[in-house]
Amino acid sequence: MGIQFKDVSYSYKGLRVDYDAIGNINLEIEPQGEFIAIVGQTGSGKSTLVQHMNALLLPSSGNVVVFGQNLPPKKKEKINFLRQKVGLVFQFPEYQLFEETILKDIMFGPKNFKSSEAEATEKAKRAAAKVGIGESLYSQSPFRISGGQMRRVAIAGILAMEPEILVLDEPTRGLDPKGRTDLMEIFNSIHKNEGKTIILISHDMDLVSQYAKRVIVLDEGKIVFDGKKEDLFEHPKFLSFHLDLPTPLKILKHLEKEVGIPYMPKYDFQSLLQYLKEVSYE
Ligand SMILES: Nc1ncnc2c1ncn2[C@@H]1O[C@H](COP(=O)(O)OP(=O)(O)OP(=O)(O)O)[C@@H](O)[C@H]1O
Ligand SMILES: [Mg+2]
Repeated sequence: MGIQFKDVSYSYKGLRVDYDAIGNINLEIEPQGEFIAIVGQTGSGKSTLVQHMNALLLPSSGNVVVFGQNLPPKKKEKINFLRQKVGLVFQFPEYQLFEETILKDIMFGPKNFKSSEAEATEKAKRAAAKVGIGESLYSQSPFRISGGQMRRVAIAGILAMEPEILVLDEPTRGLDPKGRTDLMEIFNSIHKNEGKTIILISHDMDLVSQYAKRVIVLDEGKIVFDGKKEDLFEHPKFLSFHLDLPTPLKILKHLEKEVGIPYMPKYDFQSLLQYLKEVSYE
């Protein structure tokens, strides 16, 4: 098992009262081959939940087990092991860039996890290539590139640690449509080519519909759905999840109602177009 939550609750400590952010969470996530989206309204506990996956937060009650390691571990070194295995990309990760050059910034993680200079350089270069950061940028300052490039550099910094599970907290937020698609394609190819489990927090239901296989829906800190995306969008209680339907499904429902084209779920625009071509030739 990659990640296991057993009846996990977490409360933020307040001055007068504590705030219960997530409650009674039970989850099992395979170390390989999953593409999971975590969705839910703002404040529903998504970021709080994923910060438990590499011990940035420790449960107020319940247990988290990551790659066989019960949290919190007794020895501090074990936390490093965990952070290497589960790579967490925060919201707006570019705010955490700080080195003089792009390559040094990407090397920071592997060096911190005891890679030699040469090894860290190799890992950083491989990670940079994955996110499309070319050699000509290596020696530039990470603060003199575009916002989209900064985000890629920050993501490369996590990839360079060669995590087995990649957790992404709204990685496409604030990017233009092309930047969004490009980044999602990078994550998808890591998932497909390397078989890595990807956990993606997103408010963008079109991206969730196109890429995720499994969706976890949070509502006020509780899991209200955990299953296949195909089952989520047809769920009888879908409206109560306060989620938007993905655009291709909205279009298909509309076409059935207004034009009589039989509803057939399609999860991305390409499959939608393909289906419409097929029905128009019949
Ligand atoms: N450091 C904190 N101290 C106190 N309360 C917090 C803290 N961080 C988050 N919370 C509260 O915990 C709840 C869950 O927050 P969380 O950030 O996990 O939500 P989220 O689903 O990630 O939201 P968003 O979609 O806006 O990123 C919210 O009500 C939030 O106000
Ligand atoms: Mg959040």
